[in-house]
This record gives sequence, structure tokens and C-alpha cells, in this order.
Amino acid sequence: MRWHDEYDIPGSSLARRLEVVRGFLRPLLDRPRRVISMCAGDGRDVLPLLPSGSRAVLVEWDPALADRARQSAPSGVTVVTGDAGITDPYASVAPAEVLLACGVFGNIPYADTCRTIEALPTLLTPGGTVVWTRAGSGAAEVRDAFARSGFEELAFSEPADARFRVGLHRLRRPAKPFAAGVRLFTFV
Ligand SMILES: C[S@@+](CC[C@H](N)C(=O)[O-])C[C@H]1O[C@@H](n2cnc3c(N)ncnc32)[C@H](O)[C@@H]1O
Repeated sequence: MRWHDEYDIPGSSLARRLEVVRGFLRPLLDRPRRVISMCAGDGRDVLPLLPSGSRAVLVEWDPALADRARQSAPSGVTVVTGDAGITDPYASVAPAEVLLACGVFGNIPYADTCRTIEALPTLLTPGGTVVWTRAGSGAAEVRDAFARSGFEELAFSEPADARFRVGLHRLRRPAKPFAAGVRLFTFV
């Protein structure tokens, strides 16, 4: 079974996480937005919710998943088959109002998580929001990293009967200019 097959199992942890992520995204996507999704998978979290007129860049390494995202992407969405861990693919959409980092922080070293979160002000508008996920106790470190980097927590979901955690953070510090060629993270 491939990791994303779990999405199709009703009541599975991944299916439940998807509903929480969409619940956080829905009010943010109340009008056309600029959106980034890092390690986007097939984009099922954000693509069905995107208001028309939005611009989005989804970056996914797996060509099969990227193709699936491309097939369901409305106009205005660019799906890049490539490395989400460097800033270059985001050049056309930064600064974004909404950024997804779902299924990322559990797959990279904590130093990379910190570096990525510190760099998010170069990818976001002032007040831009980030929806992120992390399984289990590792979420505490992610929340710390957001707090240190000038983000306020708007929501945090920690179901008692599941390991997934979903956070929603808003940038409270001034945004920074986009910088190409910056390494954010490397998947392990
Ligand atoms: C745990 S999945 C999460 C996918 C999606 N965000 C979701 O929540 O359904 C992690 C994804 O990251 C992709 N990936 C791994 N390394 C990557 C990289 N360097 N750049 C872009 N995507 C990457 C994998 O192919 C996989 O689809």
C-alpha cells in the first residue's frame, strides 16, 4: 500500500487529518488567494477549495502524484514536479497569502524545520498564514519554532485518539523579500 492510499480508507488517520486541514483552509480561501503548497502530494487538500481567480504553486517530487494534481488543477494553478526544499519554484507566486506544509516536518531534520519556518517570511505576505501537520510529540517543537520566528498560533488540532496534529499560524512580523536559491530542507 502506498502512503496516500490511506486517504481512501474512511475514518483513517490520514482521512481525518485531511478534514482538519480543509477545515483550517476553508475560511482562509474565502476569496481568490495566492497559495503555496510544499510537498503537495496530489493536492487534494487545497485544490477542491481554491476560489476561481486564485494563483497557486504546488511542488511535488513524485511525478505520478504531481500529474494527478495537475489533472485536477483549475486555471491559475502551477504544479511543479520538483524539489520543494528550495525557494526557486515559489518565485512566481511569492509572496503567498496561504502556505501549506502538510506531511513535511515529520520527514525532515528538526534543524531543517527551523530553517524552513525562519525563511517563511520571505514566501508570505504580511499576515500570511501557514497550515502545517506533524505527527505526535514532534508538534511541540514545531509550535516552538513558529513562536520563535514571529508567528502567532490561530488554531491547533490535537485529537486525543489520533497521532496527527494540525497547526495554523499567522505571520506577525514584517515579511521579507523573496530570495531565490535558498535551501530550506532536505527530505530524509
Ligand atoms: C507525507 S506526504 C504529504 C503530501 C501532501 N502534502 C499531503 O498532506 O497529502 C510527503 C510528500 O512529499 C513528497 N516529497 C518528498 N521529498 C520532496 C521534495 N524534495 N520536494 C517535493 N516533494 C517531496 C513525497 O513525494 C510525498 O508526496
